Formats: sequence, structure tokens, C-alpha cells
Amino acid sequence: MSAFTGRDIIAIGDLSHEDIRAILDQAAAFDRHRREYAHLLSPFILATLFYEPSTRTRLSFESAMLRLGGKVISVAEARTSSSAAKGETLADTARTVAAYADVIVIRHPAVGSARELAEAAPVSVINAGDGTGEHPTQALLDLYTIERERGRLDGLRIGLVGDLKNGRTVHSLARALAHWDVSLMFVAPPALRMPEDITAALRARGVEIEETDDLLRAAQTCDVLYVTRIQRERFEDADEYIRLKGSYVVDRALIERAKPGITIMHPLPRVDEIATDVDALPNAAYFRQVANGVAVRMALLALVLGAVG
Ligand code: NCD
Repeated sequence: MSAFTGRDIIAIGDLSHEDIRAILDQAAAFDRHRREYAHLLSPFILATLFYEPSTRTRLSFESAMLRLGGKVISVAEARTSSSAAKGETLADTARTVAAYADVIVIRHPAVGSARELAEAAPVSVINAGDGTGEHPTQALLDLYTIERERGRLDGLRIGLVGDLKNGRTVHSLARALAHWDVSLMFVAPPALRMPEDITAALRARGVEIEETDDLLRAAQTCDVLYVTRIQRERFEDADEYIRLKGSYVVDRALIERAKPGITIMHPLPRVDEIATDVDALPNAAYFRQVANGVAVRMALLALVLGAVG
């Protein structure tokens, strides 16, 4: 048993600096000694409930569980193939799935849905993205990646680029970075700026934030650029999406003019915001970022199931 046993991971605000440190350190331990833990979670079952599309998040949670010897049950298209399609509430789904599994990972289009499920579920619930709300496990793997790529978090200048209004990964990552001594640059077209409540909360914690729509200047001053997709599925007005898509493109020509050694990250999937001519550069960290997701999710599962810590 540890302080993590049985906890829900719904929003970055649920985690203290010490909690985040413990998760990142456990992930590093799993990365170093993966084979030693191949049976750690053998008594346990993970259920993944995905009401929105996913490739990385669902498969990396399932891979993490399997790598630790646990078992997985899954509803990949929960919106159409689970009883949600018959009108079942999240609370009833929670009580039901908790009878089959020891931990539940949920992705859902509604902000607050993961919290709603967690309140009714007697087992740990992990939020894998609730609409435009939060995506805390992505933020944790992003922190882990920045530390691995740059050797530290303190003292860095980090640019978050793209759809800062609708992107849940940047909402969670900005809040997570506030635990370190970083300065942030928010690079977005005016219509897609970071929500004011997040910016205000970060400033109140003393985080230095600059908002701009100038990608080149961001590239010339930041140590890390975290690029995101314009979230087409969140737009009510298709013309507005067409107007804004392609607002920013990170390509090799930009990297050549950027701060030397700049790290380029992306939660993926990308559409056209990072040109494929960047992929072969050492700056491109986004596929290493994908791989880091497995170790971080191994850590989260082992911690909430009380198997380490
Ligand atoms: C992100 C998501 O689903 O929020 N993907 C992911 O989990 N890596 C980013 C996105 O969809 O743009």
C-alpha cells in the first residue's frame, strides 16, 4: 500500500509536486528494469473505455498493463458498442465495469465525464481525456520526455503551439509545468488562445507567461516547442476550422532558424503542423515521446494498484 493506492487520476490539480516526482521516478525505474517487473500486476485487470477515437493512449495503457503481467478488457468504441448507446448513465457503467476490473481508464467527449465515472466507481479511474478538459497522463509523459531530452525541467523556456483553446493536452501540460521554474510562451491565433482561467491560475502561481502569434520568435527563444493539432472535432463552424487550419507549420526551414538544439514535441496525431522533413532531425522528439508513454502508464497503473510505492 502506498499513498497512491486506490486513487483516481482525473486532473493535474489532483497531484502534488511530490506525487508527480514519484510517478516520473517510478517510470524511470520501469524503463531501466522492465523485465524484473514482468509479473508485477498479474492479479489485476484493467478496463479501457474509449468513447472517442484513440491510437496511442488506449494502446499504450494496454501495453503498459500487459508488460507488467496484468490483463486487459476493452471497449474501443464505447459510444456505439457499449450500453451507452442504449442510454446507460456513466454512474451505472462505473458500477458495472468495477465488477470486472481493478482499474478503469476512460476517454469521453464531455468535460467532467471522468470525474463523474470516478465518483461512482469503487476502483481507481484514470482520465485519458475528457473533451476539451484535461489529459493528465499525457502531461505526465510530456514532463518525463522533457526531462529525458533536456536533462531537467527547471530553467527551461517552453512554447505551447497551436489550438490552446480546445487542446486538452496543453491544458494539463501548462498546469503541470507550473510545478517547476519554467517560463512559458503560448503561441496561438487569437481565436484559439489558452483559456483565461488557466492563464490566470498560472500567473497567480508566479509562472512567467508570454502570449504571441509569432511562431518564428517562439522558435528562436524557446528550448522546447510543444506543437498541437487544431482540434477539428471541437469546432461548431466548419469554415472557422478551414480558416485556422495550417495556421502554424513547423518545418525544417523553421528549425534551421530556431534556437540551436531546440526540442520539438507533439502529443500526436499530427495533421500538417509538423512537416515530415523534421522527422529525421535529432530535434524531433515526438516518437520518443510516444515510447515514453508506456513507462509512465506502467508507473501510474502500478501506483494506483498499490503494487509499488
Ligand atoms: C491527444 C488527445 O487525444 O487529446 N492525443 C493523444 O492522446 N496523444 C491530442 C490530439 O488529439 O490532438
